[in-house]
Amino acid sequence: PTVTVLNGPNLNLLGTREPEIYGTDTLEDVRRLCVSTSDGLGLDCDFHQSNAEGELVDLVQAARGRSIGLVLNAAGYTHTSVALRDAVVASEVPMVEVHLSNVHAREDFRHRSYLSDVASGVIVGCGLLGYQFAIQRLAALHRS
Ligand code: DQA
Repeated sequence: PTVTVLNGPNLNLLGTREPEIYGTDTLEDVRRLCVSTSDGLGLDCDFHQSNAEGELVDLVQAARGRSIGLVLNAAGYTHTSVALRDAVVASEVPMVEVHLSNVHAREDFRHRSYLSDVASGVIVGCGLLGYQFAIQRLAALHRS
C-alpha cells in the first residue's frame, strides 16, 4: 500500500524561505521523514512537490484507487483553489491537510481553507512532525 504526500508552491524553497516561520529543515528533510515514517508502517511513500496548480490536480487524480491516503500541504493554493478541492473530493481518497506554520496565527487570508471541510483531519503549526502525524493517521484509518 502507498501513501501520497503532495507539497504545493514554494515548498521547494523550504530551509531558506522565511526560516523564522517555516524553520530551517529542507523539503528533502520532509521527504526523508515521510519515507521513514511510511516505511515503519509498511507503506510506500509517493512524495511530490509542484509549483503548478494543474500538476497538483493531476497528482490528486492519480491517487484515486492507488493510494490509501493523501497528505496535502497545498501551501498558497490552500487559500485559493476550488480545483484542488474538487480533485480531492473526486479522488475518494482520505486526505489530511498539513501546514508547517500555524495559519490561524497569521494573516486573515490564511484562515480560510478550501480544503479543511473536505479533509479527514487538519494539522497546523507542528512543523515537520505534522507530516508524520498525518501519515500515522492515514495508516490507522486504512487499518480500521
Ligand atoms: C503553508 C501555509 C500557507 O499559508 C502558505 O501559503 C505556505 C505554507 C504552511 O505549510 O505553513 O506556502 O501551507
